[in-house]
This record gives sequence, structure tokens and C-alpha cells, in this order.
Amino acid sequence: MRKVGIIGTGEYFPKKVLTNFDLSQMVDTSDEWITTRTGIKERRIVAKNEATSDLAIKASREALVDAGLKPGEIDLIIVATTTPDMPFPSVACLVQRAIEAPRAACFDVQAACAGFIYGIGIAQQFIAGGVYNNALVIGAEVLSSITDWKDRNTCVLFGDGAGACVLAAVKSGGILATYLGSDGSNADLLMVPAGGSRQPASHETVNKRLHYIKMRGNELFKLAVNIMTKAAAEVIKKANLKSEDIDLFIPHQANIRIIQLVAKKLKIPENKIYLNIDKYGNTSSASTATALCEAVKVGRIKRGDLVLLDTFGAGLVWGACLIKW
Ligand code: UT7
Repeated sequence: MRKVGIIGTGEYFPKKVLTNFDLSQMVDTSDEWITTRTGIKERRIVAKNEATSDLAIKASREALVDAGLKPGEIDLIIVATTTPDMPFPSVACLVQRAIEAPRAACFDVQAACAGFIYGIGIAQQFIAGGVYNNALVIGAEVLSSITDWKDRNTCVLFGDGAGACVLAAVKSGGILATYLGSDGSNADLLMVPAGGSRQPASHETVNKRLHYIKMRGNELFKLAVNIMTKAAAEVIKKANLKSEDIDLFIPHQANIRIIQLVAKKLKIPENKIYLNIDKYGNTSSASTATALCEAVKVGRIKRGDLVLLDTFGAGLVWGACLIKW
């Protein structure tokens, strides 16, 4: 099997900033509550007429330049998203059209906040087995399109954005281990109830606000801490390493308290955690994708560093990935 590494990264966030103060004018909340309970100060929101593929395309272009690859050389495009532009065609096909990558096979992955790691895991297998030489994996979301702006329990949490990476066969280092898992028995804890085949869109579903995110946050919180700890421990064990070996921990940015508890359980010190939750909130599948790109840009990741990505989300699903940069 060939070694597979990340050879380029890119990100894009919409320009519009929505602050905690702005939210306090919309629902019964405060900057103090949001900051202390979640660590979020602001998030980005798309402009009118901006959709998930628009963000994905911009992040992809940056990742391809960073990787030094032309769009025409790309073999595979995977977009992880819970908020596609439409049920079909896939966002991946829309990205393919825009960046002009005619060789690529294209599809979307729906694994909620763990989708980016699922995408990496799938692409890794194709490249390691020699089926493809490279892949573009993107995590992109317009969560503002499924956020209930009247529900203070959820509307303070989410934001829009996209992160992308280019994977290719490498001579040394690269992805040391990937671990994916799911627990469908807890599917009801986080969902958008309507808009699919179970409850197609109707006046009734719209009136009942069933096209928005419904979340049992408190129950999810405890599961998130335990599952993210287990997923990280599993991937570290698979790579035959110890948590002390990790140079940078990039967790899913859902809640700073979840992140701090997971890091504590893993015995990873705070100075090795990468955080951007304060600026962007929870961007689901784009979360670790954008954080990885940003960490590279600001010099927090150097060649040879061990980088741990760790995610958790609706399904439930989780995924962790350990990379030697
Ligand atoms: O992305 C993947 C999956 N997502 C997660 O893993 C999210 C996990 N859950 C969480 O991050 C946290 O549970 C939340 C941030 C969603 C909520 O924090 P919490 O500390 O679990 O609060 P809570 O739900 O237990 O609510 C505490 C209180 C309640 O009031 P009472 O019943 O104690 O009077 C809520 O009504 O806080 C109230 N509350 C708010 N108050 C001000 C809930 N949302 C707000 C708000 N502003 N925005």
C-alpha cells in the first residue's frame, strides 16, 4: 500500500460577521452566556445567493494552488456536507464544473461534523490502493440555511465556511492512521426532521419549523466528550504512539468546554490545541478542515509534526486521523 499525505490546504469564509451582540438583538441570549458556555464570539454567514458550492469552490482553488496541482490533474473530488446546494446533483459535481476538473470522479459524503475525516478516510484508501493518484477532499457548509434563528438553544452555535485539502501519494510521513465509527441508536439527538423522504416539504412542515436543526445539546455534550476521547485514543494506539507525541490537536470546534475536557482526558496540554471556535463557531464538516488550513498558514504546523484531527457529530458519527506532516 502507498503512503498518503496532505499536500495542500485551502479555506474560505463568507465576509459577513454575526457577533454575539447581534444575536442578543434577535433572541433572549447574551455575549456572556454564549462565550462562557461555548467559547464562540462570532461566526460567518453567507451573502444572499451564496451557497455551499460557492464556498467549496473558493477553498478548493486555494488548496490546488497550495498543492501545485492543476484542476485537470485531479482524480477524485469528495465533498463532505450536510447542507448541499440541492438534493442533487452533488456539490462535488458543481465544484468539478466550476474548477474544470474533467478527469475526477465526484460524490458527496454525508457524515455530519465527521464528514471531512470520512472523506479523508475514503480518499486515502483509493490512493493507497493505487486506484487514484490524488484527491480533493472538501468540508463545506451553509449551516445558516438550516438554523432556526428563533431558537436560542441552537442559533448561537453554528456558522458557514469551507475547508479543502489535496491528498496524494507521498514518500514518507503522511496519514499514519484513520479511525471512523458510528452509533445510529442515538440518531434522534441531532437532526433536521423534514425535507427528506420521511417528511417531504409541505406547508405543515414549514409552519412547524421542521426544516431546521433540532438538537438535544446537553445529552450530546456528554457523548461528545466520551466519544471524541475514545476516537483520539484509538487512532493514537493504531499508530503505535502516545498522546505525549502529538504536536498539534485539531478537534471539531463545537464547544470549547467539550474540547478542554477531551484534551484533559487525553493529557494533551492547552498549548497544543488549535482553536478557531471563537471566530467561526461550529461549521460542522468544515470545522477541522478550516482549522487545519489555518494552522498551516499561521505556522502552527511544521514539517515532521504529528497532527491529530478528532471529530464527532449527528448520526452519531465520529472520525479521527493522525498525520505526520
Ligand atoms: O457539532 C456536533 C454536535 N454538537 C455538540 O456536540 C453540541 C453539544 N452541546 C453543547 O455544546 C451544549 O450542550 C450547549 C452549548 C448546546 C448548551 O450548553 P449547556 O451548558 O448544555 O446548557 P443547557 O442546554 O443545559 O441549558 C442551560 C440553560 C437552560 O436554562 P434553564 O433551563 O437552566 O433555565 C437553557 O434554556 O441555558 C439556557 N440557554 C440559554 N440561555 C441564554 C440555552 N441556550 C441559551 C442561550 N442564551 N443561547
